[in-house]
Amino acid sequence: MSNTNNNIHGQWSTRLAFILAVSGSAVGLGNIWKFPYITGMNGGGAFVLVYLACILMIGLPILMSEVLLGRMGQKNPIETMRTLGIQYAGSGLWSLVGILGVLTGVLILSYYSVVAGWAMNYVYLGLSGTLDNVDAANATLIFTGVVSSPTNLIFWHSLFMISTAVVVGKGVVHGIERSIKILMPLLFLLLLVLLGFSIVNGDAVSAFYFLFKFNFDLLTAEAILIALGHAFFTLSLGMGAVMAYGAYLPRGHSISRLAISIVFVDTIVALIAGMVIFSVVFANDLSIGQGPGLVFQTLPIAFSSLPLTSLASVLFFVLLVAAAWTSSISLIEPAVAWLVEAFSFSRQKATYFIAFIIWMLGLLSVFSFNSLSEFIFWKGTWFDNFDFLTANLLLPFGGLLISIFAGWKLSFNISSSEINTTKLYWFRLWRFLSRYIAPVGIMIIFLDGLGVI
Ligand code: PFF
Repeated sequence: MSNTNNNIHGQWSTRLAFILAVSGSAVGLGNIWKFPYITGMNGGGAFVLVYLACILMIGLPILMSEVLLGRMGQKNPIETMRTLGIQYAGSGLWSLVGILGVLTGVLILSYYSVVAGWAMNYVYLGLSGTLDNVDAANATLIFTGVVSSPTNLIFWHSLFMISTAVVVGKGVVHGIERSIKILMPLLFLLLLVLLGFSIVNGDAVSAFYFLFKFNFDLLTAEAILIALGHAFFTLSLGMGAVMAYGAYLPRGHSISRLAISIVFVDTIVALIAGMVIFSVVFANDLSIGQGPGLVFQTLPIAFSSLPLTSLASVLFFVLLVAAAWTSSISLIEPAVAWLVEAFSFSRQKATYFIAFIIWMLGLLSVFSFNSLSEFIFWKGTWFDNFDFLTANLLLPFGGLLISIFAGWKLSFNISSSEINTTKLYWFRLWRFLSRYIAPVGIMIIFLDGLGVI
């Protein structure tokens, strides 16, 4: 491990370690919890198509840009953007991209941790036998029971925040590397088993049609904005998480290949999760548009017909917690790294300080499902608003600025030598997407989705 610049993360030991760490950040609640439910709420096929287009034409080039900028700057995202801004764009104000990213990460983790807490709670329910042989009515009751008690939610939210803080406080490279090498293949395997199961026992044909039949009538401007936002959310883009990880990638690796592997893993996990969940939904006549409770209410039903029901549920929810955990680490990392570098906090102190602020903010999301559930403004409850603001506005906005910087402020020679593709046309394609397609696409979707045009 080299400590040439600072001691925040160390340096990834291999190319694979980097791919796993960024995939660990990317694959999370976004793929397994959020993608299916927002797809359900936004009509299916056409939404998925727009999401995939956003991933390829906007997400992929911005992922490459974040890795590129992180590796060039070698520091936390605020410092990286300040230094590169001064050097290539004549202004340290570019550090605002990093500041916005730090704030966005804090806001996202505040509600992300509450949902990860649900998953932890479900592990416990599985162990205690509550998830044995559940039917649709039971599944709804169990979920309502989980979210309607503030003390219950606060307990699990606190536990999740503490487990995140413990790892981040200790430094992330070894902890993440080691656990992800085991957890990611396990998650993949389990999803494949579930996919096989849903093909045999669920209504996979209807699920397939729902996900891939493009009915454009159902697509609204806001749905397109949500698809764009989700492309950012699922790839962990627009807030400096990937930039922070890119800072510890040794030079010489081809960024395009790394980015393509990460995007592939992330997308395939989401699509498989969608197939599994909608197969169960259609086979059991559940509602597709039921919102955030979807995965929690469908999977226990799917498992109930299996032998060893509880074991399957426990395993699944343990992996969901693990996926959430490797993502939450990357959500808090930019803020922690910045406090350590800019204010000389010890790593532990920085972590617990930020974690406490996030925990407090998270209470608003906790109460959104019970005492404050009637308190509705803008897009819904506090929880809905945090989600909408961060995923659909702040992340794409951060991504817009990153794309403009990488595409327009870095010269052809500098970015081509940094990206280091084997074929020049890949580089040209990245540059074209970064300069034109990504910024213009984001702006049009923004203005349209917010009703300005
Ligand atoms: N990509 C994560 C998921 O899909 O669950 C969420 C996330 C992690 C978003 C890190 C943003 C981020 F910086």
